Amino acid sequence: MECSTRSWKVEDAGDLAVALNNKKILDNLRDGLPYPYTVEDGRAFIEAMLGDDENKTYPFAITVNDKAVGSIGVFRKDNIHCKTAEMGYYIAEPYWGQGIGTSAVKQVCNYIFEKTDIIRIFAEPFAHNVASCRVLEKAGFAYEGTLRKNAVKNGNVLDMKIYSIIKV
Ligand SMILES: CC(C)(COP(=O)(O)OP(=O)(O)OC[C@H]1O[C@@H](n2cnc3c(N)ncnc32)[C@H](O)[C@@H]1OP(=O)(O)O)[C@@H](O)C(=O)NCCC(=O)NCCS
Repeated sequence: MECSTRSWKVEDAGDLAVALNNKKILDNLRDGLPYPYTVEDGRAFIEAMLGDDENKTYPFAITVNDKAVGSIGVFRKDNIHCKTAEMGYYIAEPYWGQGIGTSAVKQVCNYIFEKTDIIRIFAEPFAHNVASCRVLEKAGFAYEGTLRKNAVKNGNVLDMKIYSIIKV
C-alpha cells in the first residue's frame, strides 16, 4: 500500500488517538504514553512536536490518502553524538503487513540524509519485536548487536537490538 510522510496537522489528533489506543503498539514503545490515549493527548503531542527545535526533532505523520495511519520521528542526540539521531515509529494495526512501515522508514531516512547534517540514524527495537527488526533490515539498516537486559517493560527485563543506517 502506498504511503506518504508529511508534517503533523492538529486535525490528525483523532486518527492518532485511534492508532495509539492499542496495547500491542504501546507494549513495543517506551513508557510514558497515556492509556487510554485521548484525542486531547494526540493534540498535545502534535502541538509539542510542531513547537520543538526543528534542528533536533524531525516528526512526521505517516499517511494513506492523507489520513494519519502512523507516526515516525527522528531525534538528534547531543554533545559528541550531535550527528547521530534515533528513529522511532508505529503504524495503526489495521495497516500492518502492507509495507507501510518499511516505506516510511526509507522515506524519512532519505529526507534526513538529504536535508540535514545527520550521518547516522539508529533504532533500538526490543529483541522480540520481529516485525520492527524486519522493517529495519528491509530499509537497509545494519544489525549492530544485542543490548542485553537493556530495558524493563511491563515488569519484564528485556534485551534490545540496535540497528543503524549511515549516510554514504
Ligand atoms: C513494527 C511495525 C511498525 C511494522 O509496520 P508494518 O507496516 O507492518 O511493516 P512492513 O509491512 O513494512 O513489514 C513488516 C515485516 O515484518 C514481518 N513480520 C511481522 N510480524 C512478524 C512475525 N511475528 N514474525 C516474523 N515476521 C513478521 C512481515 O512479514 C514483514 O516482512 P516481509 O515483508 O518480509 O514479509 C508495526 O508492526 C508496529 O507499529 N508495531 C508496534 C509498534 C512498534 O513495534 N514500533 C517499533 C518500535 S522499535
